[in-house]
Amino acid sequence: MTVRSDLPAALALRQMINGFRVSQLIHVAGELELADLMRDGPVSLEDLAHRSKTHAPTLRRLLHALSTLDIFEQHPDGRFGLTALAQPLRSDMPDSVGAYARLVGQPALWSTWGQLIHTVRTGESAFPAIHGDDFWDHLAEEPELGRLFSQAMTQASGVRADAIVAGYDFSGVRTLVDVGGGQGRLIGATLQACSTLTGILFDRPSVVVDASSVLESAGVSDRCQIIGGNFFESVPPGGDVYLLKSIIHDWEDAESIAILTSCRRAMSADSRLLIIERVLPPNVSSSAAGFGDIFMLLLVGGRERSVDEFRVLLDRAGFRLERVALTQSDFSLIEAVPS
Ligand SMILES: C[S@@+](CC[C@H](N)C(=O)[O-])C[C@H]1O[C@@H](n2cnc3c(N)ncnc32)[C@H](O)[C@@H]1O
Repeated sequence: MTVRSDLPAALALRQMINGFRVSQLIHVAGELELADLMRDGPVSLEDLAHRSKTHAPTLRRLLHALSTLDIFEQHPDGRFGLTALAQPLRSDMPDSVGAYARLVGQPALWSTWGQLIHTVRTGESAFPAIHGDDFWDHLAEEPELGRLFSQAMTQASGVRADAIVAGYDFSGVRTLVDVGGGQGRLIGATLQACSTLTGILFDRPSVVVDASSVLESAGVSDRCQIIGGNFFESVPPGGDVYLLKSIIHDWEDAESIAILTSCRRAMSADSRLLIIERVLPPNVSSSAAGFGDIFMLLLVGGRERSVDEFRVLLDRAGFRLERVALTQSDFSLIEAVPS
């Protein structure tokens, strides 16, 4: 993140310090589904308040605050409508961030950011310290939150799916296993693009219950098996390629090696492993991965890694890193083979 050079430092910092207000304003707009209510054109305040079950004079104040950020605008006739910046808050947009806007302000996540100081002092993830269980168990125990998290991941994977699929040659691959594949957005897009491919979507049972509609809308449900399980115990055998997207960065080294070892056990000698992650570049301060790294530690006890760090993990789990390829997105493909 860079400081805007046209502002005095104190003003630029003050804007950053107040960043939490922006997050909460957008979060509330997401919770109230305001962008969906304005999808077909501008709407009167009274109508919006009625349909969002809110206090009209306060909703006006919320909309005015969001308008100062160019999210929503008030028309001369008094009605409120979408700006270009508000469009991705709609749940029906291919690049929707609506679920993510709703997710970040949920008390379980919001309160975790409030304990960043604990994480920095101790090096521990703050989530278990506050909530008494780890993030993944918490999502399983709170099904609505779990579903929202998976939806946010599905939307985030959707935005990058084409770039990732285009970044790897799947010809000759018969069976693809997506380990921790969430609701199946990425494997769905991959099977859609490669008509001879069959797939296995593997994730926690509480997550894969919602996968069939995602695979159906990709038109691939007849070619994709859905399996619930725990990747620390085992992952399904029989794949030519094992995908791990945004999995390894959720975990410290010991757990990462355990997940990779489960994959290695399921694989045959000529299967391949594809890790899809943001990779830390030598200049960490200029990268989105460097910025996200602290969030991984705070929430799930994970970390972002450099190519060399991935190489060490892979080596310890019985793999040889073969190549790293950039995609037309912020994610790289790290391809490894059994050593
Ligand atoms: C950050 S999400 C990534 C989801 C998906 N790969 C994507 O990129 O959209 C991490 C995934 O790991 C799954 N996961 C966490 N612990 C797991 C476990 N023990 N066994 C199987 N899946 C697990 C979560 O349910 C979640 O879907």
